Amino acid sequence: MAKLNNVTVLGTGVLGAQIAFQAAYAGFTVVAYDINEAALDKAKATFQGLVETYKEQVEGAADGKADAAYARVSYSCVLAESVKDADLVIEAVPEKLALKQSIFAEIGAAAPAKTIFATNTSTLLPSDIKDSSGRPDRFLALHFANMLWVNKTAEVMVTPDTSPEVFATVVEYATDMGMVPIEIKKEKAGYLLNSLLVPWLDAASELYVDGYADPETVDKAWRVSTGAPMGPFQIIDMVGLNTVYEIAATNPASAQQKWAKLLKEQYIDQGKLGLSTGEGIYKYPAK
Ligand SMILES: NC(=O)c1ccc[n+]([C@@H]2O[C@H](COP(=O)([O-])OP(=O)(O)OC[C@H]3O[C@@H](n4cnc5c(N)ncnc54)[C@H](O)[C@@H]3O)[C@@H](O)[C@H]2O)c1
Repeated sequence: MAKLNNVTVLGTGVLGAQIAFQAAYAGFTVVAYDINEAALDKAKATFQGLVETYKEQVEGAADGKADAAYARVSYSCVLAESVKDADLVIEAVPEKLALKQSIFAEIGAAAPAKTIFATNTSTLLPSDIKDSSGRPDRFLALHFANMLWVNKTAEVMVTPDTSPEVFATVVEYATDMGMVPIEIKKEKAGYLLNSLLVPWLDAASELYVDGYADPETVDKAWRVSTGAPMGPFQIIDMVGLNTVYEIAATNPASAQQKWAKLLKEQYIDQGKLGLSTGEGIYKYPAK
């Protein structure tokens, strides 16, 4: 399959903006799609912010590379128009199944035959979306982590219908985009990372809420025994307590319900959301 050049990213929110900018930074020609001009104006401001972030945090970005990336992004709020020359479409619209299905139905009808379709969904299965595109053999999941210029995983996950050629092409694209591709050969809710991370964080929270040990001790046990730089509660602060709360609150297990209550009452209601607010399970000195 020919190399990919033109990438369209649907949605310019938290993840979509990062995906679009990183693709442009890696040299791809990018179209950023969002619902209206106001959303696109916001996207331009987000990209300007990413230019500055890259200049500060990504080696070499200050030598004109970040500014060049900004110039490689064009904008559209007309869905069919945004995909008309796309080699790859990466969808990062809100996590609503019906919305994703309707978007793929529309672009499936509008995109050229060469287009590969990818969803960045975190919690839905690509199989639930693939048929809407009308080309399930050209459909897969390509899942990034937040702050992707630092957390460089790109989980590439097939459905039973994805063609091996499309899978291989997207794995190569992820590398070309500057990511570390994580190849997932069979569909799995939570991909690899969250399949490992969520049960680990659940186990840590249960040791705490059931009174076996405090967070510092749980983290120390993990760090000292494995040599890992961070324990589970440090990771929880990094992920953000709101997200951890959402996951716990929807888990009916009594220890998780206890954990959700504790997170809300002792942290979230007091604005302690983790690393991003300077305090969560731990306190972080101001920079
Ligand atoms: N935030 C994360 O850390 C993260 C990490 C990995 C994957 N994801 C996944 O990425 C996707 C987007 O998440 P996000 O956090 O960037 O969301 P977000 O709410 O920050 O951004 C969503 C974007 O989609 C646009 N949008 C809204 N309605 C739309 C519509 N009808 N059609 C097209 N675009 C529309 C919004 O204007 C916004 O720019 C979700 O599937 C989510 O599961 C998020």
